[in-house]
Amino acid sequence: MNKIIIEHLSLQYADGTESLRDVSMSIVANAITVLFGPAGGGKSTLLRCLNRLNDLTEVRVASGKILLDGENILDPQTDVIALRRRVGMVFARPVVLPLTIRGNLTYGLELAGEKRKSRLDEAVEHSLKLAALWEEVRDRLDDPAIALSGGQQQRLCLARSLAQQPEVILLDEPTSGLDPISTGKVEAALQELKKEYTIVLVPHSVQQAARTSDYAAFFLQGELVEYGEGKEIFTNPKNKRTEDYVEGRFG
Ligand SMILES: Nc1ncnc2c1ncn2[C@@H]1O[C@H](COP(=O)(O)OP(=O)(O)OP(=O)(O)O)[C@@H](O)[C@H]1O
Ligand SMILES: [Mg+2]
Repeated sequence: MNKIIIEHLSLQYADGTESLRDVSMSIVANAITVLFGPAGGGKSTLLRCLNRLNDLTEVRVASGKILLDGENILDPQTDVIALRRRVGMVFARPVVLPLTIRGNLTYGLELAGEKRKSRLDEAVEHSLKLAALWEEVRDRLDDPAIALSGGQQQRLCLARSLAQQPEVILLDEPTSGLDPISTGKVEAALQELKKEYTIVLVPHSVQQAARTSDYAAFFLQGELVEYGEGKEIFTNPKNKRTEDYVEGRFG
């Protein structure tokens, strides 16, 4: 089932940079879709379109639609706050709040009006388990989050996004600053999470793209060159440019 359908999306920044050109693709529910390709290809731009974070920068959608469960989220009527709750985002550098581990997870819920301690505790435990961090922090929930390692902070950010009960999770190079062991933990968490969520990942390397993807989309200078099942794209790409990139002939 398609969770998101992108139709003929073209987009320019205010300075005239054309960052996406007539992109059409689907994002399958309960799967990991990776957006990969060289720098400047438009991967982050597309990711940010999916929860309208681009509204915060000067961009102009020249044309196109993004249907989330059939509704065009680019429509001016869209409730952007509600959209961002449904489509959560995790960034390259973990940005923990200057609060305790627990505080990082309950902050959003408290803002949304949740006061019941049992509900908050439940959300803390559940989201930490989903992000594969519970065992490591269960005895220190009231320590400052900043005391966690980089890999733990990144999983805390993932947990924070999950505590909002999103439907889709966007991750932009979430393991770019992490060592291989922490990277492995984040990747393992994503494999579990896809059972419940739809995941869109910009990987930090072709290897990570190949390891994690159910579906993959190769972007080059704003153009979607090839889209397909991960196994196909990384072992038997149809397009010469995809093949050259996957085999490391250009970066
Ligand atoms: N805020 C902005 N204002 C103007 N141009 C921008 C802005 N953000 C990105 N761009 C341009 O849009 C194009 C696509 O950038 P984007 O960040 O989406 O690429 P990317 O594929 O994520 O690259 P990377 O792998 O380096 O993260 C680039 O040409 C970039 O310079
Ligand atoms: Mg990027």
